Amino acid sequence: MPKIKAINHVAVVVDDMQKSLSFWRDALGIRLHELRDVPAEKSQVAFLPLAGSEVELVLPTTDDSGIAKYLAKRGPGMHHICLEVDDIEGMMTQLKARNIRLINDEPRATADGKKYAFIHPESTGGVLVELYQI
Ligand code: CO
Repeated sequence: MPKIKAINHVAVVVDDMQKSLSFWRDALGIRLHELRDVPAEKSQVAFLPLAGSEVELVLPTTDDSGIAKYLAKRGPGMHHICLEVDDIEGMMTQLKARNIRLINDEPRATADGKKYAFIHPESTGGVLVELYQI
């Protein structure tokens, strides 16, 4: 059985990175590890690691990505929660067998070889869920 191991990160979509950092970094005092452009996701992402997990602030850098459309439609706020899994293919098979709607039929790979896939909010009670295998 595939197993969920941890909450890997929580992602927040933002419309103003400096304003968001003034809350998450400056007011809360969470260390900003890295602020990086992620061209593959057409986003700028701030990584704020915290006790084995991470808060990620995501700012769309174009108007045509999925996350840009999400921001335009719903405004800034919670975007997704990411769960680390030990066997992403196995978990996706298990979810499909339960008629859980997946956004990605196959796992996608990050530049550094991690696998990820998204589960549709329709099947999760309104929360976009990302699965991540490191
Ligand atoms: Co994510």
